[in-house]
Amino acid sequence: MSVMATPCFVANWKMNKTLSEACDYLAHLQQGLKQEACKALEMILAPSYVILAAVAEQIRQLSLPIALAAQNLHHKTGGAYTGEVSGTMLREAGCRYVIIGHSERRVYFGETDAIIAEKVAVARGLGLVPILCVGESAEERENHKTELVVRRQLQVGLELSNSESASSRSDINLSDCLIAYEPVWAIGSGKTPTSAEVEQVHCTMISCMKSAGVLEERMPRLLYGGSVDEKNIATLMKEPHVDGVLAGGASLAAERFMTIMELGRRAKNL
Ligand code: PGA
Repeated sequence: MSVMATPCFVANWKMNKTLSEACDYLAHLQQGLKQEACKALEMILAPSYVILAAVAEQIRQLSLPIALAAQNLHHKTGGAYTGEVSGTMLREAGCRYVIIGHSERRVYFGETDAIIAEKVAVARGLGLVPILCVGESAEERENHKTELVVRRQLQVGLELSNSESASSRSDINLSDCLIAYEPVWAIGSGKTPTSAEVEQVHCTMISCMKSAGVLEERMPRLLYGGSVDEKNIATLMKEPHVDGVLAGGASLAAERFMTIMELGRRAKNL
């Protein structure tokens, strides 16, 4: 995405926060959010399914400039799938975004690239913005497979052609998607790649999408995720192709998330 893209900060709460805790969090945001941040940034919260609708209502009542993401969706639009949640339900609950292919879904729940591609297509078809997560494991990194893995996850997840077969297609529009580069080994570990390594992977993703025919102005915004905190946010956000972050642990306290957004905003000179 271009240097001028609105920076995006996603708080992935994972399996944390009851409704009362979420309301308390929103009250803190209402007290502490700076005008400048509200104008310059896009803020997205990803609570658990069961509190989505109530959190949406609370956001509306407090007039907060915050969008909602679900942490997952089912790859079918409806039917006999006990325990699952469809994109239509998520839209009606107030979601604009949906996280897809998080490594915790891939690893603990066996989600494959093919299922993830179906989820991305279903979400887009329903007007939800997918936040597609990609990233290599520790072993893949040690074996210098990072680029290979990220390219494959991106190509399959977004149903892009690979460079050899790329025709002159220039109609692919991915500006309604977000991509989060999240190295599996960096999630919840306190370890992160250097900002230069993140930038390099983001550039690889851009070249992968370019060779599939995606024009510059139709690129998705590119986020980084994995142990983002107050100490590393500024360095990460200074990279030209880091358009935002997906934060887990450090997003659980409203004050910490606001500090991260503030430092990120300043790093982008906004
Ligand atoms: P973390 O999680 O910030 O706690 O590493 C990020 C994520 O899983 O999206």
